[in-house]
Amino acid sequence: MNVLILGSGGREHAFAWKIAKSSLCKKLLVAPGNAGTGELGTNIDIDVNDFDKIKELVLTEEIRMVVVGPEDPLVNGIYDFFKADEALKDITLIGPSKEGAQLEGSKEFAKQFMFRHNIPTAKYQAFTKENLAEGYAFLESLEAPYVLKADGLAAGKGVLILNDLQKAKDELKAMVADAKFGTASSTVVIEEFLDGIELSVFVLTDGESYKMLPSAKDYKKIGEGDTGLNTGGMGAISPVQFADRFYIEKVEREIIKPTVEGLKKDNITYQGFIFIGLINVKGEPKVIEYNVRMGDPETEVVIPRIKSDFLNLLQGIRDGTFSEKDLEITDEVATTVMLVSGGYPEAYEKGKEITGIEEVEESIVFHAGTKNNNGTVKTNGGRVIALTSFGETMEDALEKSFDSADKISFEGKYYRKDIGFDL
Ligand code: AMP
Ligand code: GLY
Repeated sequence: MNVLILGSGGREHAFAWKIAKSSLCKKLLVAPGNAGTGELGTNIDIDVNDFDKIKELVLTEEIRMVVVGPEDPLVNGIYDFFKADEALKDITLIGPSKEGAQLEGSKEFAKQFMFRHNIPTAKYQAFTKENLAEGYAFLESLEAPYVLKADGLAAGKGVLILNDLQKAKDELKAMVADAKFGTASSTVVIEEFLDGIELSVFVLTDGESYKMLPSAKDYKKIGEGDTGLNTGGMGAISPVQFADRFYIEKVEREIIKPTVEGLKKDNITYQGFIFIGLINVKGEPKVIEYNVRMGDPETEVVIPRIKSDFLNLLQGIRDGTFSEKDLEITDEVATTVMLVSGGYPEAYEKGKEITGIEEVEESIVFHAGTKNNNGTVKTNGGRVIALTSFGETMEDALEKSFDSADKISFEGKYYRKDIGFDL
C-alpha cells in the first residue's frame, strides 16, 4: 500500500519511522516532511492545507492511505473533502470529519459535548462581546486563578491563567472585544481552575470500537522546573507512573467510553486519533482538552512503545477489521528530550548546520524542525530534534536521551535537563 503522511514535525517523523517498518508499506510519501522523513520516504513540498494539490498527489502516486499529523487540515475539513470527491472517496484518511474536528477547533463545542455526555471536566461558561458584563459577573463568582480560553485555534497560545480578577476582566475584554487572538477569541470559555498533575491519553478509533494507546506526559514550559513561556513541548515520558492500571481503567470507564459513545450518539463521523488532556484532581481524572490528532512530542514516546505493526492497525480501519487487530505495547519506559533553537518560543534563527546526528547510538533521532540542504542537515524550526530512548526505568531512559542530546551540536542549541522531574 502507498501511504501519505501530512505534516513536518517530530510527530510525523515518528509516524514515518513506524509505518516504514511495516511490510504492508510499499511507498511512503511525506508532505512537506523534514530531513528525517526524507531518509525514510519521499518528501513532497506541498502545504498541508492545499487540498487540491494533495488530491493531485494522491491520484498520481496511487496513495491508498493518508495519515494526517496536525489539526489544521482536519479543522479545515480535509476528511469531508475526500469523502465528497468521487476520485478520493475510497481512499482512507485517518482523521475525523470537520464536525468531529470541532472537539479541538472549538472549546465551547468540546465543553458542550462533555456536558451532554457526562464526561468529567471543569465548570464553565462561554461569552462574547454581546454579554461581556455577564462574563465579568461570572469571573467574580469564581476564585483565582482564572482560566480564559479562546474558543478557536490560536496556535497553542489561546489559554490564559491569571491570578488577578481585574487583569482577568481586562483580558476577557481584550479577547472578545479587541480580537486579541483574532476571530479565535470572539468567543471565550471561562472555566474553573483545576489543580493537579496533567497527563495525556491517546485513543485510536474507527468510529465503532477503539484502542487505547500508551499514556504520556509532556513538558510544555521552556524553562526548568516548568517555568517561563509555553512551547509546543520540550520532552515527554511514557508511561506516566501514577497512572497505573487501576487509574487507566477509571479513565477508560469515565472518559474514553463516553467520548467514543458520545460521538456515535451525536452521529459525528470520526476515524482517527483522540488525544485527551487530563488533570488528575485528587485521584479524579478530568478533561481539560480534546485534540483530534496525536501530540507532539508525545507521539515520539507513544509510537515507539507500540510493538504491533501500526500500518496493519490502520489497515483495519480501512477494511472494517479494526476491532480484531492486536495492539501490543512494550513495558519499557520511553522518554524524549527536545533540542530547540536559541530564543524559541520567541524569535529564533533558522538554517544552522546540525552535526553529530550519526554519533547518536542509544536513542532514536526524530527530526522536528530540520531541512536537508544539499546534503547538509540544517535547523528549520524552533523545535529541532527529539531524542527518544528506552529504559527499564524512566531514569535509565532519560540518561540515554541526555547523553544523546550532548552529542548533537548546532548554534544556539538548548534543551531542558529536568524532563520527568515531577514524576
Ligand atoms: P489547553 O489548550 O486547553 O490544553 O490549555 C493549555 C494548558 O492550560 C493546559 O495544558 C493546562 O496546563 C492549563 N489549563 C487548561 N485548563 C485548565 C483548567 N481548567 N485548570 C487548570 N489549568 C488548566
Ligand atoms: N504537546 C502538546 C500538543 O501536541 O498539543
